[in-house]
Amino acid sequence: LPVFVIMAGGRGERFWPRSRRTHPKQLLSLVGEQSLLQASVERIRKLTEDRRIYVVTNRDYVEKVRDQLPMLPERNILVEPESRNTAPCVGLAATYIASHFRGEDPVMAILPSDLLVRRPEFMRKMLQSGIDYATAHDVGVIYGAWPTRPETGYGYIQLGKVAAKESGVTFHEVAGFKEKPDSATAAQYLVSQEYLWNGGIFVWRVRCLLQELAAHLPQLATGLETLKAWLGTAAETERLKEIYPRIPAISFDYGILEKTRNIVVIPADFGWDDLGSWNSLERYLPQDDFGNVAQGDLIALDSSNCIVYSERKPVVTLGVSDLIIVEAEDSLLVCAKQRAQDMKKVLERLREEH
Ligand code: GDD
Ligand code: MG
Repeated sequence: LPVFVIMAGGRGERFWPRSRRTHPKQLLSLVGEQSLLQASVERIRKLTEDRRIYVVTNRDYVEKVRDQLPMLPERNILVEPESRNTAPCVGLAATYIASHFRGEDPVMAILPSDLLVRRPEFMRKMLQSGIDYATAHDVGVIYGAWPTRPETGYGYIQLGKVAAKESGVTFHEVAGFKEKPDSATAAQYLVSQEYLWNGGIFVWRVRCLLQELAAHLPQLATGLETLKAWLGTAAETERLKEIYPRIPAISFDYGILEKTRNIVVIPADFGWDDLGSWNSLERYLPQDDFGNVAQGDLIALDSSNCIVYSERKPVVTLGVSDLIIVEAEDSLLVCAKQRAQDMKKVLERLREEH
């Protein structure tokens, strides 16, 4: 059986005022009842046992993560003393899993915690194919979807030759990888029809992955090697606290995917979406006749194309259009729709004030 690792330590603050320093995007229920993290775990539970599902998170979020995922054993919630981005997160998980499943060298599938997925059944099927392939061939498997807009928030995979066809699934070589291109490059990639969006999911045998880290991120590998000696001892947490801040903060995409040759890609669109801002809710919530969408009660009079998120208080709009209105316990956001991308400015300003 595979081991799953859900990365859930991102800062994800662009959904202010609902997302906070201590309450990032992945812990929010943006669409429906479950949080993005809970939905991410639920989606893969059919593929393995709960004791083989791990979550890596920051110590600021760990209590909330435990509350949201009571079915996971305590040792499966791995706690980072501080955020060092996704390469250290993946390395930490691989090191723990290698020690928990000594002698087994399982395949691990690493997933983000902030995706919505429209076709979960198809995703599970593709995950299983990737897991089988990674088990048999000792390579990494990633997933790509055909782009539909020049998105600059995603990584792009350049599709190479067909590497294999196995049980109806085509695996391609990866001709190149570019994390978060600028908008001109993204536009070029879109028209070229050679590039896929990276879904942020990586499947790898634990040992094979640790070798990749050693080859491309030696400082990280050395840190993890030191930690290994202390795992399971009383000093583990203390050592981790010393080691982790000294590991270079880099994402798995920049650190490994842009460099390794040892990967294949499955072109497969299971309808995933990484919600980037309040605007993207429009793609998920049902619209009224005037293009308004709401989570919670909305009475819209002569109003159009508004996005409203307020579970506790009914919202009434009169004669307005193209607004984002979000209620939280202690604050309220009223934002022009075309400015939702500038949420960073709001956060900077708020930091100055407090
Ligand atoms: N544990 C831990 N620690 N998790 C982290 C950390 C960290 O320091 N940083 C980020 N994460 C988690 C996030 O919570 C998220 O679930 C996942 O790792 C990916 O991080 P994001 O910060 O959301 O990355 P991104 O969305 O900008 O880009 C990635 O995902 C895209 C698809 O959604 C890349 O893989 C892109 O190439 C990809 O297209
Ligand atoms: Mg993301």
